[in-house]
Amino acid sequence: MNYEDEYIANTYQRLPITIQNGSGALLHDINEKRYIDMMGGYGVAILGYSNQAVKEAVCSQFDTIAIAHASEYTPARSKFVKDFSKIVPEGLNKFYLGNTGAEAVEAAIKVVLKSSKKHKIIAMTGSYHGKTAGALSITYSMKYRKSFESILMKDVEFIKYNDMNDLDKLRKDDDIAGVFFEPVQGEGGINIPDKEYVKQLREITEENNIILVADEIQSGLGRTGKMWAHEHFDIKPDIITAGKGLGGGIPLSATAGKPEFMDNLLKGEQSSTTGGNPIAMAAGSAVIKQLDEEMIKSVARKGELFRHVLSDELSDARIVKEIRGLGLMDAIELRIKFLPGP
Ligand SMILES: Cc1ncc(COP(=O)(O)O)c(C=O)c1O
Repeated sequence: MNYEDEYIANTYQRLPITIQNGSGALLHDINEKRYIDMMGGYGVAILGYSNQAVKEAVCSQFDTIAIAHASEYTPARSKFVKDFSKIVPEGLNKFYLGNTGAEAVEAAIKVVLKSSKKHKIIAMTGSYHGKTAGALSITYSMKYRKSFESILMKDVEFIKYNDMNDLDKLRKDDDIAGVFFEPVQGEGGINIPDKEYVKQLREITEENNIILVADEIQSGLGRTGKMWAHEHFDIKPDIITAGKGLGGGIPLSATAGKPEFMDNLLKGEQSSTTGGNPIAMAAGSAVIKQLDEEMIKSVARKGELFRHVLSDELSDARIVKEIRGLGLMDAIELRIKFLPGP
C-alpha cells in the first residue's frame, strides 16, 4: 500500500513508478525493474545515485555534528565555502547559502533590489526560476503564475529569450535594476542562446548599470561540459545561483556574487534555519571534489557522442523535431508535447 496519493497535496505530475534504490545512472523500482534515469533526478543526480564519497562525507559528518545554525561557526561550513570559492567565477566570492534553488533566487532578487537604486527586474520568456513568490514572479509560465497574480512582484517584465531586438528595451528603460537569465534554459525545453546574444546582453547590462544574474541552478556544476554554462559564451555575470546537484542529494543551494552587491544584504534580511547546515556542507564539499577538469571534459565528450549517435539513430524518426544540447544537458524535441513539470 502506498499512502502518498492519499496524504500528499496533489501538486506533482506523478510518474507510475515506485523507486526502491539507485546506483550510477540506474534506478530500480520495487518490482526490481531497471530504468536508465535520463532525468538525472531532475538535475540533482549529477554524480549518479549512491555516490560513495558523498555517502561517506554525510555519515562521517553526522558522527561529528549534524546541526549548527549559521549564527554559529563550524568547520564543515568553513571548508565548504573555501571549496566553493575555488569553483565560482573569479570575483563572485561572497555567498548566501540556502536549501533549495528557489531560495537562492529569492536571495538574488533581494541582493539586486538592495544594490540598485532602480526597482524593475527583467526576466526572459520560457524562464523557470522556482515557485516561491519572488522566484515565481520571474518565472514565465502562465500555468504556474495564473492563480497567484496577487502575490507576485509587480515590477517585472519579460523580454524574449535569445532575441537581439528585444535587448534594446534594456537600453531604453532607466528603471531596470537587474536581469535574470538562464545561460541554458532547462525547464523551458533545453534552449541554448546564441553566443552573440549573450555577449550583447552582458555588454548592454554593463553599459546601463544593470546587474546580470545567471541562474545556473540547472545548468551549472559541469552539466554542460563547463563548470558554469555561461562560460560557453565568454561572459561573466555579476551574480550566479546554484543548487540541485550541489549537495549530492542533500538540499543545498547558493547565491554567489560580487561582494559589493552581496554585502548590501544586512543581518536578518535573509536567513534559513537549515541553510548551510553541516551535513549539506560536507556533502557539498564531497561533490565539489569530484567536479575536476577531467570529469567536466568527459561530460563535454560524452554529450557530443550522445547527440551524434542519437542524430544517426533517429534520423528517420518523423516524431523527432530536433536533437540539441550542451554537454549532458540535452533534449530530443518531439513533435508532440508532454511536460510533467518540476
Ligand atoms: C533554472 C532553475 N532555477 C530555479 C529552480 C528552482 O529550484 P528548486 O526546485 O530547487 O526550488 C529550478 C528548478 O528546476 C531551475 O531549473
